[in-house]
Amino acid sequence: MERAVLRLSEQALRSADQAIGFLMQQAVENADCISLAAGLVDEQSLPVDLVRETVGQVLQDATAGRKLLQYGTTQGPEPLRRVFRDYLAELEQRTDRLTDLPLSQFFLTTGSQQLLALLAQALFNPGDICLVAAPTYFVFLGVLQAVGASIVPVQSDQQGMCPVALRAALQRLDQSGLLGRVRLIYVVSDFENPSGVSVSADRRPALLALAREYSRESRIFLLEDAAYRELRYDGQSPPSIWSYDRERDTVILAQTFSKSFSPGIRVGLGVVPQVLVKPLSDLKGNEDFGSAHLNQHVVARAIKERTYHQHVQRVRDGYRIKRDAMLEAAEQEFGDIPGVTWYRPEGGMYVWMRLPEWIGTGFDSVLFRRATQVDKVMYVPGELCYPQDWPSRPRCEMRLSFGVQSADGIREGMRRLANAVRWVLTEQGAGSSARSQ
Ligand SMILES: Cc1ncc(COP(=O)(O)O)c(C=O)c1O
Repeated sequence: MERAVLRLSEQALRSADQAIGFLMQQAVENADCISLAAGLVDEQSLPVDLVRETVGQVLQDATAGRKLLQYGTTQGPEPLRRVFRDYLAELEQRTDRLTDLPLSQFFLTTGSQQLLALLAQALFNPGDICLVAAPTYFVFLGVLQAVGASIVPVQSDQQGMCPVALRAALQRLDQSGLLGRVRLIYVVSDFENPSGVSVSADRRPALLALAREYSRESRIFLLEDAAYRELRYDGQSPPSIWSYDRERDTVILAQTFSKSFSPGIRVGLGVVPQVLVKPLSDLKGNEDFGSAHLNQHVVARAIKERTYHQHVQRVRDGYRIKRDAMLEAAEQEFGDIPGVTWYRPEGGMYVWMRLPEWIGTGFDSVLFRRATQVDKVMYVPGELCYPQDWPSRPRCEMRLSFGVQSADGIREGMRRLANAVRWVLTEQGAGSSARSQ
């Protein structure tokens, strides 16, 4: 008997070609490579002993323990949200413990990804607009694509999203009658995935001011994704964009304990404007009516005991060494290749490298095939980090992660990658200069 036709939702169809899917498939197909692609955290630093002890503590009393093995609440139990508010106050260097910030505005989520996805569902109908830094976190681009959002890239440089470019983009949308369709500006404020760039201190209030100024026809929110906030290896942290939002009605702050503690525990923390509490809570109610309750208690306990803080310090020290290993290897292996540049991040997990413009880095490029099949090294093609329908997106960049490999693995991976780039330069270089004449 012939099977009836499979009919999928438009959202499922719009999710079909996301970058993360390709990337995971490439990772499986090229499993014998040194991966500078995987965005996983450093396995050696994961807090096995600390989590074992903390789980023991929170489950020590059987009656209390049973409660933690029960469902929690949609936004997370209030006493826990209080612990997370105290922690946010510490990060924000607030002596008042942020007691004027209602706990109702806090969400404990399944990683920050859940907040990002819920927010996209809450704000976007097909055709509504999100402005994003170019390049930006490609998984969020997939989320936006799934809800049918129209994604407008905004120029970003070594100080993050440019306010001048943001204003120009908003003005263009206004002139073409589309301002009323703008719902969100998405900014990864610290050590952006993929570029490693942080939004500079003076740009932070400027971006917020633009969201406010152009909230004329409909409210424009600013999503500050601070996933890497705690992974700073040098310098001082500027105040969050959220901290400038005195009315607390424009910025949604998304944080996570995945990078600083454990992605397997997957606890995220969101602070949202009051007007978004109900819609997000309704959507989260439909989705899971509460994220993993026990996990929230484990993270909260580690924060209260300050064992979390000690752990984060160790994590930072480990990543600093690996970041430096990657930057030194970049200098050593790529320093003499003309036209290759990279950015030195002060934190996070990625080094963003740019090759001469004619060297494509995409999955179907000569370089990607050479790197994965001959030199046995893998990276994330930079073009994934731009909206797919943006014709002028750069095609010659790579995201290199220092998260997963050891310092030796990083050095070897960079050596192999430089070999692949040199091979492309030698084999194809002559052709390219002939083409460009
Ligand atoms: C910029 C950014 N935001 C959010 C996330 C989501 O992480 P999680 O859901 O584990 O908090 C990631 C994960 O890599 C990320 O890089």
